[in-house]
Amino acid sequence: MTEHIKIERKDGVLTLTFARPDKKNALTNAMYGVLADSLIAAEADPSARVVVLRGEGDMFTSGNDVGEFAAIAAGAVQGERHVSRFVRALAQATRPLVAAAQGRAVGIGATMLLHCDFVVLADNAQLSTPFINLALVPEAASTLLMPMRIGYARAYEMFALGEAMSAQTALDLGVANRVVPLDKLHTEAAGIADRLARLPVGSLAATKKLMRNPAPLVAQIDAESQHFAARLKTAEAREAFTAFAERRPPDFTKVAG
Ligand code: COA
Repeated sequence: MTEHIKIERKDGVLTLTFARPDKKNALTNAMYGVLADSLIAAEADPSARVVVLRGEGDMFTSGNDVGEFAAIAAGAVQGERHVSRFVRALAQATRPLVAAAQGRAVGIGATMLLHCDFVVLADNAQLSTPFINLALVPEAASTLLMPMRIGYARAYEMFALGEAMSAQTALDLGVANRVVPLDKLHTEAAGIADRLARLPVGSLAATKKLMRNPAPLVAQIDAESQHFAARLKTAEAREAFTAFAERRPPDFTKVAG
């Protein structure tokens, strides 16, 4: 295990497990670094014909570590930010990406599912994208992919009101392929990954490229990143992060945009 990411390779399947359950698998810069490196390396690794993303414990992931957002906002973080490498690697992956998600999938936990080719949800899964609640903007090309997938009206509501989408709704709207009982989640995802790993990898890659052109996704990621970085420095975002640390709801009515 490196930096709270477990890496396993077996029978042509690379499994990446978010393993920080005491913090609900909140993703840190170091974790994004390992995830990005693993996805990029998988592209040229014959033992990684398929990639599975999953989370340990009771939820997939609570999204980006909010403490790290606060540290960036305070100017206390130096060095490379790996999150953009990770989301670009998701958008550019030619390997089939399979996700197995239980419990909450918050923020990037939900938006990364839009990059996965096969999404298996446990019946208790709840997808939410509370970026605006944190005074930020949605990322990972979700401002393009979410309206494309579920329609503008529903995507706007999800982003603006931050309400969770149930597993069943995700299935009905085409965000997920399967909903299974929680205790079947990992066997179901492993079974799908095993089937995909036996298919011709070149054909899968070419089909995926035809079905999802990475160029507009990467352009959208770049546009979102600029807004995201600017938003992190606002008084609104400071209020959101302080409220999270103080375990109280934010009050945006008294701060300027
Ligand atoms: N960043 C940093 N720490 C996080 C976190 C996150 N995204 N999500 C959870 N944690 C931490 C909590 O602060 C808590 O730490 P502590 O034990 O040191 O106090 C621990 O993980 C357990 O979380 P808790 O809130 O007690 O669990 P819960 O089951 O009651 O609630 C969530 C789970 C996911 C609903 C809640 O933690 C939450 O809303 N997290 C923030 C999600 C978020 O806004 N993510 C960013 C999206 S852009």
